[in-house]
Amino acid sequence: MLQIADRMNTLGTETAFEVLARANALAAQGKSIINLGIGQPDFATPEHIVEAGRKALADGHHGYTPANGIPALREAVSADLWRRHQVEVSADDVLIVPGGKVTMFFAIMILGEPGVEIMYPNPGFPIYESVIRFSGATPVPMPLHESKGFSFSAEEVLSKITPRTRLMIINSPANPTGGVVPKAELDKLVSGLRDHPQVAVMSDEIYGEIIYDGAEHHSLLRYPEIRDRVILLDGWSKTYAMTGWRLGYGVWPKQLFPHAEKLAINCHSCVNAATQYAGIAALKGPREPVERMVRAFAERREFIVKALNSLPGIRCVNPGGAFYTFPNIAGTGYDAKTLQTELLDRTGVATIAGTSFGAFGEDYIRISYANSLEALGEAIERIRRFLGNLPLSSAG
Ligand SMILES: Cc1ncc(COP(=O)(O)O)c(C=O)c1O
Repeated sequence: MLQIADRMNTLGTETAFEVLARANALAAQGKSIINLGIGQPDFATPEHIVEAGRKALADGHHGYTPANGIPALREAVSADLWRRHQVEVSADDVLIVPGGKVTMFFAIMILGEPGVEIMYPNPGFPIYESVIRFSGATPVPMPLHESKGFSFSAEEVLSKITPRTRLMIINSPANPTGGVVPKAELDKLVSGLRDHPQVAVMSDEIYGEIIYDGAEHHSLLRYPEIRDRVILLDGWSKTYAMTGWRLGYGVWPKQLFPHAEKLAINCHSCVNAATQYAGIAALKGPREPVERMVRAFAERREFIVKALNSLPGIRCVNPGGAFYTFPNIAGTGYDAKTLQTELLDRTGVATIAGTSFGAFGEDYIRISYANSLEALGEAIERIRRFLGNLPLSSAG
């Protein structure tokens, strides 16, 4: 019998991958599955980006790159941050990593240890809480409120800071709720953070370009008063439909950067070279493919929110960003996990129980609308029939 390190017992997982496996297994049995569990755009990576990756391979970019990323990519990130947020970021502070998740893992492992508290959004991306526990730190949930469009209350968050708090994680626009934290709430939070100079902030802005109703994404990089303790997490996965390429970046405070870079060298050496060239093409290329994708998401959001609100026992707030809705299902009489299982097994619609995103996700399910309008319409009809105890003829 092999002996496993104790710390492995503290590591959680991401249920989305389990639901995906179950949905695929059911599909393999011939069942008609509509996957609304998935957290990735249903668009192909734009062709000019794919071509840049192909060309990099043809041009012989087959070796290691610098651990922090090729200079041209880090410069392109810096220029992109200026375009989007009008903030100056030195390319020296940018660490290119294989996906958004890596910045999160590094930040938590650099700052987390027993005796330390790390605050994280709940319901939130499940890996936050999982890695906080893995680091030995204590996870302290920052509740998100449906009544506030799934934002937090700055006052409530600030009241949870203790002398042991070392890191606070913010995610806006958010997974799983689609919620966007209003600028006024961010202003209040940052103002309060002045009294807590020991608290670093990791701002997960991976959905920052998927935002609706003409709203502007307000990056935490825009607050000079906390700039020396903000870690920005961003990447290509969602904006450019590049989840499988594995490309992300962190902007690190100077004090933390060498630690993050050392972790990269110990862990993955560098990101796949051709992927990095594709990343340059994404940032420097036309914005039109991104705009087209966001327009499609906006149209689907409008449809799905209205449709969900027409279902018995369900109410759904209009999410400000990302491609998720987080309907309240308390009125259906099901708990979240049971509804997830029943919907998948009986109607073939894959969703994710809100509890997969933390204890405060009870009473909710996550529905990703990264799927066609036609598929969304069919899914809603199946759910309507299920909730109304009507025959599920079309579920296959
Ligand atoms: C909030 C949030 N942060 C980070 C990530 C990780 O992105 P990546 O696939 O680039 O690692 C995800 C992916 O679903 C996410 O939802």
